[in-house]
Amino acid sequence: MPFPIHRPRRLRSSEPVRALVRETWLNPKQLILPLFVVEGEGVRREIGSMPGNFQMSIDETVKECAEVRSLGIGGVILFGIPNKKDEFASEAYNRNGIVQRAIRAIKEHVPDLLVITDVCNCEYTSHGHCGKVVKNEVDNDATLEWLSATAVSHARAGADMVAPSDMMDGRVKAIREALDEENFSRVPILAYAAKYASVFYGPFREAAESAPRFGDRRSYQMDPANAREAMREIALDIEEGADIIMVKPAGPYLDIIHEARQRFDVPVAAYQVSGEFAMIEAAARNGWLDHDRAMLESLVSIRRAGAEIILTYFAKPAARLLSK
Ligand code: PBG
Repeated sequence: MPFPIHRPRRLRSSEPVRALVRETWLNPKQLILPLFVVEGEGVRREIGSMPGNFQMSIDETVKECAEVRSLGIGGVILFGIPNKKDEFASEAYNRNGIVQRAIRAIKEHVPDLLVITDVCNCEYTSHGHCGKVVKNEVDNDATLEWLSATAVSHARAGADMVAPSDMMDGRVKAIREALDEENFSRVPILAYAAKYASVFYGPFREAAESAPRFGDRRSYQMDPANAREAMREIALDIEEGADIIMVKPAGPYLDIIHEARQRFDVPVAAYQVSGEFAMIEAAARNGWLDHDRAMLESLVSIRRAGAEIILTYFAKPAARLLSK
């Protein structure tokens, strides 16, 4: 018998053959770009730890959305940074809040761009926690009312999809019921179902000005050591009416993405978070990694693990490369 019998290298011999047998492809349509909206006009402030990403006023956000649309990117997810924060997160569910006005402006100028909104309170509370604080603890059930009101106000402003990221128990059901009651039964819920208490959110908290003033988020976000618990969280969110489930962060949690894809039949999204982005940017800036290859490899790995949808700060550069 001649040796070796099997020669897998045959299918790696040229780019056309490699492309023919490639199992996973990236498509800009499955990427979602997070945007940070601030008050003011003509504001475009670069986020120090997230090069190429900006806090933008509504007018600049609209311009950005037009570019996102022309690059064929799947959509945007909006985060709002209000001027005024209080104990009650009032600006989160104000019909004239920063996100509500941004949605209306985007829908007026770039109507066919998919607009998802992050539904959470941490950018709106004076203490930076994701819910109502009672005796130094985040009160789950009281927070559900804020989340429902926020989701309804986003839908009313024209949001195509809402994405609760707070990790309160029962929020998907509460939001679904509130949306249905207000005749928004057509608005899907993308649930941050398995969201870990991760150090990789660091740069985001600078971008969204949402770092907690005391304590941390470990009483509501998940312990990075737990995988079975993630499956339970996802199952609960689906039972409560989630249309799409999300795992966050993405790169360090590929096992969770993979298992979620195997077990559940809803679309799976993954959030490549600010710290994952920042690590690649920083290494590339030091000349330690090739930027574009690291970016694409990180994204294709998330797709290979099983996520159809990726929220990523690389959406624009990746879409530009992919369309070449
Ligand atoms: C809000 C929220 C956070 C992120 C998305 N939504 C921060 C947090 O939980 O502290 C992180 C996103 C990122 O790091 O890119 N709750």
